[in-house]
Amino acid sequence: MSERRFVYARGSPIHPVSRVAAPLSPLPHQKAFIRIVTAKDNLVARARSALVRRVDPLAARRAATLAERRTAGIEQSAAVDAALDATSAVAVRDLAQKIRDGGADLHDQAALAQLVEAYLTHQDPASMPHGVAQAVAASFEGLWQPVGEPVPEPPPFIRDVIRDQFHRLYYHVSKRTWKDTWYRGVRTYKCPTDMWVYMELIDQLEPGLVIETGTYRGGSALYIADRLETIGAGNVVTVDVNEPPNPPEHPRITYLTGSSTDPAIVEKIAGMIPEGSPVLVILDSDHSRDHVAGELAAYAPLVPVGSYLIVEDTNVNGHPAAPDFGPGPMEALWDFMATDPGFEVDAHCERYFLTQNPSGYLKRVR
Ligand SMILES: C[S@@+](CC[C@H](N)C(=O)[O-])C[C@H]1O[C@@H](n2cnc3c(N)ncnc32)[C@H](O)[C@@H]1O
Repeated sequence: MSERRFVYARGSPIHPVSRVAAPLSPLPHQKAFIRIVTAKDNLVARARSALVRRVDPLAARRAATLAERRTAGIEQSAAVDAALDATSAVAVRDLAQKIRDGGADLHDQAALAQLVEAYLTHQDPASMPHGVAQAVAASFEGLWQPVGEPVPEPPPFIRDVIRDQFHRLYYHVSKRTWKDTWYRGVRTYKCPTDMWVYMELIDQLEPGLVIETGTYRGGSALYIADRLETIGAGNVVTVDVNEPPNPPEHPRITYLTGSSTDPAIVEKIAGMIPEGSPVLVILDSDHSRDHVAGELAAYAPLVPVGSYLIVEDTNVNGHPAAPDFGPGPMEALWDFMATDPGFEVDAHCERYFLTQNPSGYLKRVR
Protein backbone atom coordinates (compact mmCIF):
# COMPACT_ATOMS: atom_id res chain seq x y z
CA MET A 1 0.00 0.00 0.00
CA SER A 2 1.33 3.39 -0.93
CA GLU A 3 2.38 5.90 1.72
CA ARG A 4 0.28 8.51 -0.01
CA ARG A 5 -2.87 6.63 0.88
CA PHE A 6 -2.62 7.94 4.41
CA VAL A 7 -1.61 11.48 3.67
CA TYR A 8 -4.28 13.75 5.06
CA ALA A 9 -3.91 17.48 5.22
CA ARG A 10 -0.23 18.00 5.68
CA GLY A 11 0.76 14.56 6.70
CA SER A 12 -1.36 13.66 9.72
CA PRO A 13 -2.54 10.07 9.70
CA ILE A 14 -6.00 9.23 8.50
CA HIS A 15 -7.85 6.32 10.03
CA PRO A 16 -8.97 4.04 7.22
CA VAL A 17 -12.40 3.44 8.75
CA SER A 18 -13.32 6.47 10.83
CA ARG A 19 -11.42 9.41 12.20
CA VAL A 20 -14.16 10.16 14.71
CA ALA A 21 -13.59 7.55 17.38
CA ALA A 22 -9.93 6.64 17.10
CA PRO A 23 -7.62 8.87 15.11
CA LEU A 24 -4.69 7.33 16.98
CA SER A 25 -4.37 3.92 18.58
CA PRO A 26 -5.44 4.36 22.18
CA LEU A 27 -2.63 4.80 24.66
CA PRO A 28 -3.04 3.14 28.06
CA HIS A 29 -3.99 6.49 29.58
CA GLN A 30 -6.63 7.06 26.94
CA LYS A 31 -8.68 3.96 27.57
CA ALA A 32 -10.91 5.76 30.04
CA PHE A 33 -11.62 8.38 27.43
CA ILE A 34 -12.38 5.90 24.71
CA ARG A 35 -15.03 4.54 27.06
CA ILE A 36 -16.65 7.97 27.05
CA VAL A 37 -17.47 7.47 23.42
CA THR A 38 -18.87 3.99 23.78
CA ALA A 39 -20.69 3.99 27.13
CA LYS A 40 -23.38 6.57 26.95
CA ASP A 41 -25.31 5.46 30.03
CA ASN A 42 -23.02 6.98 32.63
CA LEU A 43 -20.96 9.01 30.22
CA VAL A 44 -20.54 12.07 32.35
CA ALA A 45 -19.62 10.21 35.53
CA ARG A 46 -16.99 8.14 33.73
CA ALA A 47 -15.53 11.19 32.05
CA ARG A 48 -15.24 13.08 35.28
CA SER A 49 -13.73 10.29 37.29
CA ALA A 50 -11.33 9.27 34.53
CA LEU A 51 -10.17 12.79 33.99
CA VAL A 52 -9.66 13.80 37.61
CA ARG A 53 -7.86 10.54 38.31
CA ARG A 54 -5.13 11.77 36.00
CA VAL A 55 -4.85 15.15 37.56
CA ASP A 56 -5.50 15.15 41.28
CA PRO A 57 -5.90 11.98 43.42
CA LEU A 58 -7.93 13.80 46.10
CA ALA A 59 -10.31 15.27 43.57
CA ALA A 60 -10.46 11.85 41.93
CA ARG A 61 -11.64 10.18 45.16
CA ARG A 62 -14.23 12.88 45.67
CA ALA A 63 -15.48 12.69 42.12
CA ALA A 64 -15.60 8.89 42.19
CA THR A 65 -17.66 8.89 45.39
CA LEU A 66 -20.03 11.45 44.03
CA ALA A 67 -20.31 9.64 40.75
CA GLU A 68 -21.07 6.36 42.53
CA ARG A 69 -23.78 7.99 44.62
CA ARG A 70 -25.22 9.59 41.58
CA THR A 71 -25.22 6.35 39.61
CA ALA A 72 -26.88 4.61 42.57
CA GLY A 73 -29.66 7.15 42.41
CA ILE A 74 -28.96 8.85 45.74
CA GLU A 75 -28.18 12.44 46.51
CA GLN A 76 -29.53 13.60 43.17
CA SER A 77 -29.44 17.12 44.40
CA ALA A 78 -28.39 20.34 42.82
CA ALA A 79 -25.58 20.56 45.38
CA VAL A 80 -24.09 17.23 44.28
CA ASP A 81 -24.33 18.19 40.64
CA ALA A 82 -22.64 21.49 41.34
CA ALA A 83 -19.81 19.84 43.28
CA LEU A 84 -19.30 17.25 40.58
CA ASP A 85 -19.30 19.88 37.88
CA ALA A 86 -16.89 22.07 39.78
CA THR A 87 -14.48 19.17 40.34
CA SER A 88 -14.46 18.24 36.69
CA ALA A 89 -14.28 21.81 35.56
CA VAL A 90 -11.18 22.41 37.68
CA ALA A 91 -9.58 19.20 36.46
CA VAL A 92 -10.23 19.97 32.82
CA ARG A 93 -8.95 23.51 33.22
CA ASP A 94 -5.82 22.27 35.02
CA LEU A 95 -5.06 19.91 32.20
CA ALA A 96 -5.67 22.63 29.61
CA GLN A 97 -3.38 24.96 31.54
CA LYS A 98 -0.68 22.31 31.65
CA ILE A 99 -0.90 22.03 27.90
CA ARG A 100 -0.74 25.80 27.49
CA ASP A 101 2.32 25.96 29.74
CA GLY A 102 4.06 23.39 27.59
CA GLY A 103 4.26 20.87 30.47
CA ALA A 104 1.94 18.30 28.96
CA ASP A 105 3.04 15.10 27.33
CA LEU A 106 1.38 13.43 24.38
CA HIS A 107 -0.89 11.49 26.73
CA ASP A 108 -2.16 14.68 28.34
CA GLN A 109 -2.81 16.26 24.97
CA ALA A 110 -4.51 13.19 23.62
CA ALA A 111 -6.61 12.82 26.77
CA LEU A 112 -7.91 16.35 26.68
CA ALA A 113 -8.46 16.41 22.95
CA GLN A 114 -10.33 13.10 23.16
CA LEU A 115 -12.48 14.38 26.01
CA VAL A 116 -13.27 17.59 24.19
CA GLU A 117 -14.09 15.70 21.03
CA ALA A 118 -16.27 13.26 22.95
CA TYR A 119 -18.25 16.07 24.52
CA LEU A 120 -18.52 18.14 21.40
CA THR A 121 -19.37 15.36 18.99
CA HIS A 122 -21.01 12.55 20.95
CA GLN A 123 -22.69 14.06 23.96
CA ASP A 124 -26.35 14.94 24.02
CA PRO A 125 -26.02 18.64 24.86
CA ALA A 126 -29.22 18.56 26.90
CA SER A 127 -27.71 16.08 29.36
CA MET A 128 -24.39 17.92 29.63
CA PRO A 129 -24.02 19.59 33.03
CA HIS A 130 -23.50 23.27 32.54
CA GLY A 131 -20.25 23.49 34.51
CA VAL A 132 -18.63 20.71 32.53
CA ALA A 133 -19.85 22.13 29.24
CA GLN A 134 -18.30 25.46 30.13
CA ALA A 135 -15.07 23.84 31.23
CA VAL A 136 -14.83 21.78 28.07
CA ALA A 137 -15.53 24.84 25.97
CA ALA A 138 -12.84 26.74 27.87
CA SER A 139 -10.46 23.83 27.44
CA PHE A 140 -11.15 23.66 23.74
CA GLU A 141 -10.26 27.32 23.56
CA GLY A 142 -7.22 26.55 25.67
CA LEU A 143 -5.97 23.79 23.39
CA TRP A 144 -3.94 26.42 21.67
CA GLN A 145 -3.46 29.98 22.86
CA PRO A 146 -0.59 31.42 20.86
CA VAL A 147 1.29 34.24 22.56
CA GLY A 148 4.52 36.02 21.74
CA GLU A 149 6.76 35.67 18.74
CA PRO A 150 7.60 33.46 17.02
CA VAL A 151 4.31 31.63 17.46
CA PRO A 152 4.95 27.89 17.54
CA GLU A 153 2.75 25.49 15.59
CA PRO A 154 0.37 23.57 17.85
CA PRO A 155 1.16 19.87 18.29
CA PRO A 156 -0.27 17.92 15.34
CA PHE A 157 -2.95 16.14 17.37
CA ILE A 158 -4.26 19.41 18.82
CA ARG A 159 -4.11 21.11 15.43
CA ASP A 160 -6.10 18.29 13.85
CA VAL A 161 -8.78 18.39 16.54
CA ILE A 162 -9.25 22.13 16.09
CA ARG A 163 -9.25 21.84 12.30
CA ASP A 164 -11.68 18.92 12.22
CA GLN A 165 -14.09 20.47 14.70
CA PHE A 166 -14.24 23.66 12.67
CA HIS A 167 -14.69 21.55 9.55
CA ARG A 168 -17.64 19.73 11.12
CA LEU A 169 -19.17 23.00 12.23
CA TYR A 170 -18.74 24.46 8.74
CA TYR A 171 -20.01 21.38 6.94
CA HIS A 172 -22.99 20.46 9.08
CA VAL A 173 -24.55 23.90 9.36
CA SER A 174 -24.66 23.80 5.58
CA LYS A 175 -27.62 26.14 5.19
CA ARG A 176 -25.48 29.05 6.31
CA THR A 177 -22.20 27.87 4.79
CA TRP A 178 -21.71 25.88 1.59
CA LYS A 179 -25.38 25.84 0.62
CA ASP A 180 -25.45 29.62 0.92
CA THR A 181 -22.34 30.45 -1.09
CA TRP A 182 -22.72 32.61 -4.19
CA TYR A 183 -20.54 33.84 -6.99
CA ARG A 184 -21.87 36.85 -8.90
CA GLY A 185 -25.40 35.92 -7.84
CA VAL A 186 -25.09 32.24 -8.84
CA ARG A 187 -25.09 29.52 -6.23
CA THR A 188 -21.98 27.36 -5.93
CA TYR A 189 -21.36 24.43 -3.64
CA LYS A 190 -17.78 25.45 -2.98
CA CYS A 191 -15.84 26.35 0.11
CA PRO A 192 -14.27 29.83 -0.20
CA THR A 193 -10.82 28.59 0.81
CA ASP A 194 -10.99 26.00 -1.98
CA MET A 195 -12.10 28.64 -4.47
CA TRP A 196 -9.03 30.65 -3.58
CA VAL A 197 -6.81 27.61 -4.19
CA TYR A 198 -8.51 27.08 -7.58
CA MET A 199 -7.67 30.66 -8.46
CA GLU A 200 -4.03 30.09 -7.50
CA LEU A 201 -3.85 26.88 -9.53
CA ILE A 202 -5.37 28.60 -12.57
CA ASP A 203 -2.88 31.48 -12.26
CA GLN A 204 -0.01 29.03 -11.89
CA LEU A 205 -1.01 26.51 -14.59
CA GLU A 206 -2.66 28.75 -17.16
CA PRO A 207 -4.68 25.73 -18.31
CA GLY A 208 -5.90 25.50 -21.88
CA LEU A 209 -8.95 23.66 -20.58
CA VAL A 210 -10.59 23.31 -17.17
CA ILE A 211 -12.83 20.24 -17.04
CA GLU A 212 -15.55 20.26 -14.40
CA THR A 213 -17.88 17.32 -13.76
CA GLY A 214 -21.04 18.41 -11.91
CA THR A 215 -22.30 21.79 -13.07
CA TYR A 216 -25.23 22.26 -10.68
CA ARG A 217 -26.22 25.94 -11.16
CA GLY A 218 -23.05 26.92 -13.01
CA GLY A 219 -21.64 29.13 -10.23
CA SER A 220 -18.31 27.31 -10.10
CA ALA A 221 -18.02 27.30 -13.91
CA LEU A 222 -18.65 31.06 -13.96
CA TYR A 223 -16.03 31.61 -11.28
CA ILE A 224 -13.49 29.55 -13.25
CA ALA A 225 -14.36 31.34 -16.51
CA ASP A 226 -13.77 34.71 -14.85
CA ARG A 227 -10.41 33.56 -13.53
CA LEU A 228 -9.47 32.40 -17.03
CA GLU A 229 -10.60 35.77 -18.36
CA THR A 230 -8.20 37.56 -16.04
CA ILE A 231 -5.25 35.60 -17.44
CA GLY A 232 -6.62 35.91 -20.97
CA ALA A 233 -6.47 32.23 -21.86
CA GLY A 234 -8.28 28.93 -21.60
CA ASN A 235 -11.83 27.62 -21.50
CA VAL A 236 -13.97 25.63 -19.10
CA VAL A 237 -16.18 22.71 -20.05
CA THR A 238 -18.71 21.55 -17.46
CA VAL A 239 -20.89 18.46 -17.65
CA ASP A 240 -24.01 17.48 -15.70
CA VAL A 241 -26.71 14.83 -16.06
CA ASN A 242 -29.23 17.60 -15.46
CA GLU A 243 -29.38 20.71 -17.58
CA PRO A 244 -28.90 23.67 -15.22
CA PRO A 245 -31.78 26.16 -15.12
CA ASN A 246 -30.67 29.57 -16.48
CA PRO A 247 -26.97 28.79 -16.55
CA PRO A 248 -24.76 31.87 -16.59
CA GLU A 249 -23.50 32.70 -20.04
CA HIS A 250 -19.82 33.30 -20.61
CA PRO A 251 -17.77 33.04 -23.80
CA ARG A 252 -15.30 30.72 -22.07
CA ILE A 253 -17.92 28.23 -20.75
CA THR A 254 -19.21 25.17 -22.64
CA TYR A 255 -22.08 23.26 -21.02
CA LEU A 256 -22.58 19.58 -21.78
CA THR A 257 -25.51 17.44 -20.68
CA GLY A 258 -24.94 13.77 -19.92
CA SER A 259 -23.10 11.53 -17.52
CA SER A 260 -19.50 12.45 -16.87
CA THR A 261 -18.48 8.82 -17.37
CA ASP A 262 -20.32 8.38 -20.68
CA PRO A 263 -17.52 7.50 -23.14
CA ALA A 264 -19.01 9.85 -25.76
CA ILE A 265 -18.87 12.77 -23.30
CA VAL A 266 -15.31 11.90 -22.27
CA GLU A 267 -14.24 11.71 -25.90
CA LYS A 268 -15.85 15.05 -26.70
CA ILE A 269 -14.13 16.71 -23.73
CA ALA A 270 -10.76 15.15 -24.61
CA GLY A 271 -11.10 16.66 -28.07
CA MET A 272 -11.43 20.15 -26.57
CA ILE A 273 -7.95 20.13 -24.98
CA PRO A 274 -5.58 22.36 -26.94
CA GLU A 275 -2.49 20.46 -28.11
CA GLY A 276 0.15 20.32 -25.36
CA SER A 277 -1.63 22.65 -22.95
CA PRO A 278 -1.92 22.24 -19.17
CA VAL A 279 -5.26 20.89 -17.93
CA LEU A 280 -7.18 21.24 -14.68
CA VAL A 281 -9.76 18.52 -13.95
CA ILE A 282 -12.31 18.98 -11.14
CA LEU A 283 -14.46 15.97 -10.21
CA ASP A 284 -17.60 17.23 -8.48
CA SER A 285 -20.57 15.18 -9.70
CA ASP A 286 -21.95 11.98 -8.18
CA HIS A 287 -19.89 11.44 -5.02
CA SER A 288 -20.36 7.68 -4.69
CA ARG A 289 -17.12 5.69 -4.65
CA ASP A 290 -17.94 3.77 -7.82
CA HIS A 291 -18.80 6.85 -9.84
CA VAL A 292 -15.71 8.73 -8.71
CA ALA A 293 -13.62 5.65 -9.53
CA GLY A 294 -15.10 5.71 -13.04
CA GLU A 295 -14.31 9.42 -13.38
CA LEU A 296 -10.75 8.91 -12.20
CA ALA A 297 -10.25 6.17 -14.78
CA ALA A 298 -11.73 8.35 -17.53
CA TYR A 299 -10.14 11.73 -16.77
CA ALA A 300 -6.75 11.00 -15.17
CA PRO A 301 -5.24 10.10 -18.58
CA LEU A 302 -6.17 13.59 -19.83
CA VAL A 303 -3.96 15.28 -17.19
CA PRO A 304 -0.40 15.97 -18.39
CA VAL A 305 2.65 16.05 -16.10
CA GLY A 306 2.60 19.20 -13.96
CA SER A 307 -1.19 19.60 -14.22
CA TYR A 308 -3.79 18.89 -11.55
CA LEU A 309 -6.76 16.63 -10.94
CA ILE A 310 -9.00 17.61 -8.01
CA VAL A 311 -11.22 15.03 -6.35
CA GLU A 312 -13.91 17.04 -4.57
CA ASP A 313 -15.76 16.21 -1.37
CA THR A 314 -13.25 13.68 -0.09
CA ASN A 315 -14.28 15.05 3.32
CA VAL A 316 -17.45 12.94 3.51
CA ASN A 317 -17.74 9.51 5.09
CA GLY A 318 -16.00 10.69 8.24
CA HIS A 319 -12.99 12.49 6.72
CA PRO A 320 -14.00 14.27 8.91
CA ALA A 321 -17.61 15.18 7.91
CA ALA A 322 -20.77 13.14 7.26
CA PRO A 323 -19.60 9.87 8.87
CA ASP A 324 -22.74 8.09 7.66
CA PHE A 325 -22.24 8.95 3.97
CA GLY A 326 -20.85 5.57 2.91
CA PRO A 327 -17.90 4.96 0.61
CA GLY A 328 -17.30 8.09 -1.40
CA PRO A 329 -14.60 10.14 -3.08
CA MET A 330 -11.92 9.44 -0.44
CA GLU A 331 -12.34 5.69 -0.78
CA ALA A 332 -12.17 5.97 -4.59
CA LEU A 333 -9.07 8.13 -4.20
CA TRP A 334 -7.35 5.57 -1.97
CA ASP A 335 -7.96 2.81 -4.51
CA PHE A 336 -6.76 5.04 -7.33
CA MET A 337 -3.57 6.13 -5.54
CA ALA A 338 -2.74 2.55 -4.64
CA THR A 339 -2.69 1.58 -8.31
CA ASP A 340 -1.63 4.74 -10.19
CA PRO A 341 1.85 6.01 -9.34
CA GLY A 342 1.45 9.05 -11.59
CA PHE A 343 -0.06 11.42 -9.03
CA GLU A 344 0.94 12.90 -5.68
CA VAL A 345 -1.19 14.71 -3.13
CA ASP A 346 -0.25 18.40 -3.05
CA ALA A 347 -0.64 19.17 0.65
CA HIS A 348 0.24 22.82 0.04
CA CYS A 349 -3.27 23.22 -1.40
CA GLU A 350 -4.64 22.31 2.05
CA ARG A 351 -2.68 24.91 3.99
CA TYR A 352 -5.76 26.98 4.86
CA PHE A 353 -6.87 24.01 7.04
CA LEU A 354 -10.47 24.13 5.81
CA THR A 355 -10.93 22.21 2.57
CA GLN A 356 -13.75 20.05 1.32
CA ASN A 357 -11.13 18.12 -0.63
CA PRO A 358 -8.67 16.69 1.93
CA SER A 359 -5.98 14.72 0.08
CA GLY A 360 -7.93 15.56 -3.07
CA TYR A 361 -5.52 17.96 -4.79
CA LEU A 362 -3.54 15.63 -7.03
CA LYS A 363 -0.61 16.73 -9.14
CA ARG A 364 0.61 14.56 -11.96
CA VAL A 365 4.31 14.04 -11.34
CA ARG A 366 5.13 11.34 -13.88
C1 LIG B 1 -22.14 18.98 -5.97
S1 LIG B 1 -23.09 19.38 -7.36
C2 LIG B 1 -21.96 20.28 -8.35
C3 LIG B 1 -21.65 21.61 -7.74
C4 LIG B 1 -20.93 22.58 -8.64
N1 LIG B 1 -19.71 22.04 -9.21
C5 LIG B 1 -20.59 23.80 -7.81
O1 LIG B 1 -19.48 23.84 -7.25
O2 LIG B 1 -21.43 24.67 -7.68
C6 LIG B 1 -23.19 17.82 -8.14
C7 LIG B 1 -23.83 17.82 -9.52
O3 LIG B 1 -23.50 16.59 -10.14
C8 LIG B 1 -24.54 16.23 -10.98
N2 LIG B 1 -24.40 14.80 -11.31
C9 LIG B 1 -24.83 13.72 -10.62
N3 LIG B 1 -24.49 12.58 -11.26
C10 LIG B 1 -23.80 12.97 -12.36
C11 LIG B 1 -23.17 12.27 -13.41
N4 LIG B 1 -23.19 10.92 -13.48
N5 LIG B 1 -22.54 12.97 -14.37
C12 LIG B 1 -22.52 14.31 -14.35
N6 LIG B 1 -23.11 15.04 -13.39
C13 LIG B 1 -23.74 14.37 -12.40
C14 LIG B 1 -25.79 16.60 -10.21
O4 LIG B 1 -26.87 16.77 -11.11
C15 LIG B 1 -25.36 17.89 -9.53
O5 LIG B 1 -25.77 19.02 -10.25
